[in-house]
Amino acid sequence: MKDLLDKLVKKNIAETKLGTVASYIPELDKAKKDALGLYIIDVNGNEYCSGDWDTKFTIQSISKIVTLMLAILDNGEEYVFSKVGMEPTGDPFNSIKKLETSSRRKPYNPLINAGAIAIASMIKGKDVRDKFQRLLDFLRKISEDETLDVNYKIYCGESETGNRNRAMGYFLKGEGIIEGDVEDALDIYFKQCSIEVTAKTLAKIALFLANNGKLSSGEIVITPRIATIVKTLMVTCGMYDSSGEFAVRAGIPSKSGVGGGILSVVPGKMGIGVYGPSLDKKGNSIAGVLLLEDLSSELNLTIF
Ligand code: DON
Repeated sequence: MKDLLDKLVKKNIAETKLGTVASYIPELDKAKKDALGLYIIDVNGNEYCSGDWDTKFTIQSISKIVTLMLAILDNGEEYVFSKVGMEPTGDPFNSIKKLETSSRRKPYNPLINAGAIAIASMIKGKDVRDKFQRLLDFLRKISEDETLDVNYKIYCGESETGNRNRAMGYFLKGEGIIEGDVEDALDIYFKQCSIEVTAKTLAKIALFLANNGKLSSGEIVITPRIATIVKTLMVTCGMYDSSGEFAVRAGIPSKSGVGGGILSVVPGKMGIGVYGPSLDKKGNSIAGVLLLEDLSSELNLTIF
């Protein structure tokens, strides 16, 4: 297995030249463009890694699946999906256009920015600090890593540059989709995007979902139903407007982030974390996507 992973990482490093590192915040631009690595943990506890698996980067949009799990635990499935849909958009992750033009008057799904901001507004707590702390504690629990924390330089950058997200937040407040304080929802969203992880952290969270919401200790944290909802949305919406193509080519429920991470779940088999900060035009790790496609065909990991 180790030889296979080394071979696939080596093969796909060349692809990193064809992408670009996210630069909307100067801090993100510091990532090494040709970095590429992955970490795998199977359900028997075997761990395999290759390349830059221990480089720290921000979780970004991958956090959207974590907030979704906690929002459903806090509010129930019915309430959550009365405010946010379950359909892919076919549009970029930060698109505004369907918010007003569509007859449904709610964000299409929880994994686009508009949907994720609405989901962030649903986290329970006595104030914004407590709400984010509950989210961070939940992430630490499901990744079995107490050291996870926010990169405050990136958080400041997210907040300073996040005017498009702010516009969507205020629109959602006007429509009654966000019921609480809109600035609180945005603050939670900017902070959740700024949590630092490694490919290993992503593999741990993916393993938790591969085990239908069970930790390695046997503790059940979310219901199998919540795990199923999250994995299904990862297939249909997790790679944004590349989700269809990625489902055909790799067939692994996955969620990407502009920090360069991809979290991939092979149900009942393994959790995979990938890091490659050079991104394609849609905001997915350019070499990470190809690495997962290769891995899927070598190990026959497609769920279809
Ligand atoms: O809110 C944003 O636009 C960024 N902080 C995160 C977006 C992201 O990771 C989209 N993923 N591909």
